[in-house]
Amino acid sequence: MAEFKQAPAGASKGTQLLTWVDNRFPASKLYKEHLSEYYAPKNFNFWYFFGSLALLVLVIQIVTGIFLVMHYKPDAAKAFESVEYIMRDVPWGWLVRYMHSTGASAFFIVVYLHMFRGMIYGSYRKPRELVWIFGCAIFLCLMAEAFMGYLLPWGQMSYWGAQVIINLFAAIPFIGPDLSLLIRGDYVVGDATLNRFFSFHVIAVPLVLLGLVVAHIIALHEVGSNNPDGIEIKAKKDPKTGIPLDGIPFHPYYSVHDIMGVSVFLLLFSAVIFFAPEMGGYFLEYNNFIPADPLSTPLHIAPVWYFTPYYSMLRAVTDPLVNVFAVLVALGAVLAVLKGGFSTVVKVAVLGAALVVIFLLKTFDAKFWGVVIMGLGVMIMFPLPWLDRSPVRSIRYKPTWNKYLYAVFVINFFVLGYLGIKPPSDIGTLVSQAGTLFYFGFFMLMPWWSTLGEFKAVPDRVTFHPH
Ligand code: HEM
Repeated sequence: MAEFKQAPAGASKGTQLLTWVDNRFPASKLYKEHLSEYYAPKNFNFWYFFGSLALLVLVIQIVTGIFLVMHYKPDAAKAFESVEYIMRDVPWGWLVRYMHSTGASAFFIVVYLHMFRGMIYGSYRKPRELVWIFGCAIFLCLMAEAFMGYLLPWGQMSYWGAQVIINLFAAIPFIGPDLSLLIRGDYVVGDATLNRFFSFHVIAVPLVLLGLVVAHIIALHEVGSNNPDGIEIKAKKDPKTGIPLDGIPFHPYYSVHDIMGVSVFLLLFSAVIFFAPEMGGYFLEYNNFIPADPLSTPLHIAPVWYFTPYYSMLRAVTDPLVNVFAVLVALGAVLAVLKGGFSTVVKVAVLGAALVVIFLLKTFDAKFWGVVIMGLGVMIMFPLPWLDRSPVRSIRYKPTWNKYLYAVFVINFFVLGYLGIKPPSDIGTLVSQAGTLFYFGFFMLMPWWSTLGEFKAVPDRVTFHPH
């Protein structure tokens, strides 16, 4: 047991209480480590608002969720009307519900921007690989959380969206049909599905999400924050104090700075809640104001906007695209054998593996590969720290053309998102196929292209202009 500390003679009641607590729980230690003596680079820009905003939205979702559960009924016969009851009769229920539904979209906007910041400043690179990996796991959980939450209002889109997505799992060879039955809990989406989704949405996934967010921040504070220059501030410390020369205490500097981000966010968030809670059918789809009807399939079923880039990738995978994949695998293997400088054993293994992949590609249905591509679209983010081989972290010091490449990546992601909302068309499928190939090409060819071109000199100290 650690030595008990004594409060100084004549200390205030507050100090005495804190000493009492500190002798039993590391309150002051945690406060210092994570706030008043957590030294963050002094050159953060607006991109660094989105981490704290993600935390804020998480809190909003949990608090509003708790109040919604007080009135919501997870029963297929009552769910829709209980939501209408919240909207019309529960005092302030409409506000709580709109905060929660708008919060879901806001969460994805904030998290997509947060992830993109990580990408452009190379925040995922050594030693922050685990910060990134926890982040990717958070993103997966967030998708599961949003998908299951969307079933709860039991509207037409809730019902048919869940039906389509759960049926996708049935395309997995061998285990698919049983797996989709297990998820659904019935042969069609029904009360059993609603109950299990409710239980996962309200307790299981949020618990995991919270744990992962804590792990994400502990990992970040262990290694320290990156910054827009991608320079390691711990490399230049004050010899006397051991404090990074370019570091400033998180509190009060960034706690106050973040209030600015929070204010702008709350302004926009309130504007949506009070003036456009449905956001033209993007945040709350019009079809979802019609109660779920298993006997009437809506003409067009589309997921909510934040899933549509991945949904586009799923729909892009048709037989011709599977053939393109097969050709690319064959080309990749031949290139690896000719240029890779591997031993004969490895060369034979590469060719053998390529043959197996091509065989599998041609054996299973394109629908199954669509599901695989959709899943890989998210999973490919995990190995990013090892795909980027650039000698510098931040885009500021990479060759200028990298900026255009990242811009095309973003535009492509938007185009995929747009196409995923629209009903399928020939030209739409063609564009989403090109978009899917670009998306995967961006990541899979990164070990090659990230080393190309003229890199700019990285300064010793961060660039900072006082304002
Ligand atoms: C609920 C969701 C999330 C929360 C609450 C959250 C919270 C935070 C916070 C508070 C920070 C420090 C402040 C900042 O750098 O902006 C941070 C940093 C970071 N987050 Fe997240 N995060 C979330 C999701 C994600 C996701 C999905 C990813 C990536 C896939 C990610 C990757 C990162 C990285 C790489 C950093 C370090 C950035 C740097 O030092 O430059 N986070 N996160």
